[in-house]
Amino acid sequence: MTKLAILEYPDPRLRTKAAPVAAVDATVRRLADDLLETMYGSRGIGLAATQVDVHRRVVVVDVSPEHDRPVVLINPQIIASESHKLCEEGCLSLPGIYANVERAQKVRVRAQGRDGSPFEMDAEGLAAICIQHEMDHLEGRLFVDYLSELKRQLIRRRLAKERRQRSVSSEVRSPASAT
Ligand code: NI
Repeated sequence: MTKLAILEYPDPRLRTKAAPVAAVDATVRRLADDLLETMYGSRGIGLAATQVDVHRRVVVVDVSPEHDRPVVLINPQIIASESHKLCEEGCLSLPGIYANVERAQKVRVRAQGRDGSPFEMDAEGLAAICIQHEMDHLEGRLFVDYLSELKRQLIRRRLAKERRQRSVSSEVRSPASAT
């Protein structure tokens, strides 16, 4: 398994709509495994293929407290949803940014698993929110799209400032580590 680089907002590649997976082959299984490795390595609870610049309909989720309940969803579809509520969420493509988004608190999802077999599952609370968030990525949609343009502008400025600070601090560090 390989930890992959995660695209960060406002990278335009995050806007790509993912294509359905026609057959769950070794490449798709490898992608699912790499997504899990990348998600766990970044302390995330969900990750979509879009975020690693692979535009196929694959997402992974693990909201368990011990991080030992990986769920792979290939070609996921929400077939029922209820009780919409505002909840705070974040995203590995927008490090450090959190905002309230309205999501269904209960969803029924139809998908294929890592082995390609179709299944349905019910998800509630954090799992339900996470699945909706990851499925948005497959459409090229981000949680900040639900906010006002003014808020998005502030978020873009803050992320750009933090990226500048990160690159300055790595320049300051590099002479020392070179010795
Ligand atoms: Ni995300």
